[in-house]
Amino acid sequence: MRRCGIVLAGGTGTRLHPLTVAVSKQLMPVFDKPMIYYPLSVLMLAGIRDMLVITTPGEQPAFRRLLGDGSQWGLSISYASQPEPEGLAQALLIGADFLDGGASALILGDNLFYGANLPVLLKTASARPEGATLFACRVKNPSLYGVVSLDASGRPTAIEEKPARPKSPFAVTGLYFYDHRAVEFAAGLSPSPRGELEITDLNREYLEAGALTVDVLGRGHAWLDTGTHDSLLDAAMFVRIIEERQGLKVCCPEEIAWRQGYIADGDLEALAAPLRHGGYGDYLLSLLSEGRGQ
Ligand code: TTP
Repeated sequence: MRRCGIVLAGGTGTRLHPLTVAVSKQLMPVFDKPMIYYPLSVLMLAGIRDMLVITTPGEQPAFRRLLGDGSQWGLSISYASQPEPEGLAQALLIGADFLDGGASALILGDNLFYGANLPVLLKTASARPEGATLFACRVKNPSLYGVVSLDASGRPTAIEEKPARPKSPFAVTGLYFYDHRAVEFAAGLSPSPRGELEITDLNREYLEAGALTVDVLGRGHAWLDTGTHDSLLDAAMFVRIIEERQGLKVCCPEEIAWRQGYIADGDLEALAAPLRHGGYGDYLLSLLSEGRGQ
C-alpha cells in the first residue's frame, strides 16, 4: 500500500517571536539539527519516502535550500504553500493532488518523538490499510491539546479540542495516519470559531465512522513540542543529553536513510564530507566504521 507523508511546517510561530519574525519555526535549531529533521525522521522511520512539505509561501525557498528534492536521502520531497494558517486539517486539502487518492501520514513540523520501539509502532500504523491511527500521550496539562478518551479496552470514545475540563490525560500528538478518506472528510469540514479547519474535527469523523485506532505512547516515550521558548530549550537539552550519553544521534535523517538502505556507504561518506567541521560529519563517518548492525 502506498502511503505518502505530509510535514506541516507553516504557521506563524507567534509564541516564539522575535525568533520567528525572520526565520520559520521549523528551521530553528533543536540542538544540532533544524527542527524539521525530527518529524521528517519520524516519517522515514515509518517507511515513508514520498513526502510533501507545506510551508508559508515566503519560507519555501529556505526549506528547499535545506532539504532539496530529498534524493540525497533516498526520498522524494515536494513542496506546497499554505498562505494563511487556516488549520491543520487544511494540509489534506493542500495535499489532495499530491496524495492522489492514496493514504497519508501527516506530522506537525514542530513535534519531536523519541522512545523504544517507535519504529515498530510507526510501521504497524502505516501498514493499516483502513481508517485512521492517532498516537496519544499522557500530559500534565491536557486542556492545551486535543484530548481523547479511551474505554477499558483502549478504544476511543470521544475526542475534544482544548477542553476546559479534560475527561482524560491523553493528548493527541501531532502525528496522524489516514486512509484515502481524509481528503473527503477535510473537504466537508467548516472552520471553527477560531477560523481554522480543526484536525480534531477530522479525527472525530473517523471516530464516528468507527474507523479510529488510538495507540497510546507509554511512559517510556517522549513527545515534545517546541512552540515556546521554554519547550524549545527543553527539547534541545533532551536531545543533547541522550546524544551525549549514548553517542548516537536522535532523528538524524542521513543515518536513518543509510540504516534503512535508501543510500549506500559511499553516499553517506559524500554527505559527511561537507559536515565535518562541527562533528556531524564525523558522526556519519563513525557509523560507517561500526557498520549497519550496531
Ligand atoms: P501551532 O503551534 O498551533 O501554531 P504556530 O506554529 O503558528 O505557533 P504560534 O501558536 O506560536 O503562533 O501549530 C502547530 C504546528 O502546525 C506548527 O508546526 C505550525 C503548523 N501549522 C501550520 O503549518 N498551519 C496551520 O494552519 C497551523 C494552525 C499550524
